[in-house]
Amino acid sequence: MTRILMVCLGNICRSPLAHGILESKLNSLDYFVDSAGTASYHIGKKPDKRSMEVAFNAGIDITTQQARAFITSDFDDFDYIFAMDESNYHDIMRLARNQEDAKKVKLFLDANKTRFDKNVPDPYYGDISDFEYVFDLINETADLIIRGL
Ligand code: 4NP
Repeated sequence: MTRILMVCLGNICRSPLAHGILESKLNSLDYFVDSAGTASYHIGKKPDKRSMEVAFNAGIDITTQQARAFITSDFDDFDYIFAMDESNYHDIMRLARNQEDAKKVKLFLDANKTRFDKNVPDPYYGDISDFEYVFDLINETADLIIRGL
């Protein structure tokens, strides 16, 4: 079983989409996918309505997800930890206890050489078109990540 964790700041906009999209593309017997946030403002909440809507429009149900914070033991429980942006990446790396932990952490968009963006943009203060952009960016990159697993 390969265990993959998607991480953003609040765990309500970007990483729930990455979680749902990856999960929808992988066989659940061989892969476990989860998501978390580096901040704890939204613990226990469902994803943002706009993330739920763009996922639903693509046939992906993320409504049962609940936000949680990234914790140090996630380094033990996951094989790959993908950060949605460089700020999340540095926050996770600060918690790494050793080289083995640090090696698990990747910047999500490093898998996508067709894009110049390094960061999945935070759509929280945007509108539905920002969430649609984020959905497409994550969806395209998820296929490239799966090829490299
Ligand atoms: P996310 O977006 O990191 O993609 O879940 C955000 C959600 C909430 C906040 C910031 C980003 N916030 O400041 O509450």
